[in-house]
Amino acid sequence: MPEANQNDLKALAAARALDFVQDGMRLGLGTGSTATLFVAQLATKVSQGLKITCVATSEATEAQARAAGIPMTTLDAMPELDLVVDGADEFDPALRLIKGGGGALLREKIVAAAAHRMVVVADASKQVETLGRFPLPVEVNPFGLGATRRLVAEVCRSLGLPDEARLRPAKTGSGPFITDGGHLILDLPLGAIPAPEALAAALLAVPGVVEHGLFIGLATAVVLATAGGTRVIDPSVKNGT
Ligand code: A5P
Repeated sequence: MPEANQNDLKALAAARALDFVQDGMRLGLGTGSTATLFVAQLATKVSQGLKITCVATSEATEAQARAAGIPMTTLDAMPELDLVVDGADEFDPALRLIKGGGGALLREKIVAAAAHRMVVVADASKQVETLGRFPLPVEVNPFGLGATRRLVAEVCRSLGLPDEARLRPAKTGSGPFITDGGHLILDLPLGAIPAPEALAAALLAVPGVVEHGLFIGLATAVVLATAGGTRVIDPSVKNGT
């Protein structure tokens, strides 16, 4: 899909997601290129009088939102949210997600778990039948990296999955990518994840694993933008719109 076209679709999904935002809401703001477009459009609504209070899923989103004049707070001051709007790297028919391509998965999951609803903004490239084409990000503590990496590989092997765990490099310069929480990321090129729940539980049982990018039972709807227009996939509503 050409870059410009995909960005147009991301912007369309972001615009449609604004329909979910109501005056007075406590809102979580996602991370990534699609979420960035949503935050920019949300800022316009705020400048037009929309009253909301937001929590960000990353330092980057926090900075963007503050600079754009969106009222921001923390999960300590506001531990319960009405809605989070975030992107995804993949979603399947059960609205299970892979997230963390941008490295913000831990905060994204904490914010999603604090929210009553999670609306995912996605372009057509994110829709899959089976999760796993996108390498699964796993956030790990820097202490004992070698040992944690070995156990993560063992978990994959025991489930019949490829056992490669790539340490994510920094976006620029040398050294590894460091998350907002000071952790590292292992990317698992699995190809297909036939049983995401089993993998999620097994990965979390490894002591050095802080969190993984499988989001299961968190997304309540997906706003999907395709060349044919936008569509809301919401299993709680009989006919999608
Ligand atoms: C950030 O850590 C990710 O979970 C993003 O939400 C995800 O990678 C989607 O990003 P894009 O909207 O940039 O594709």
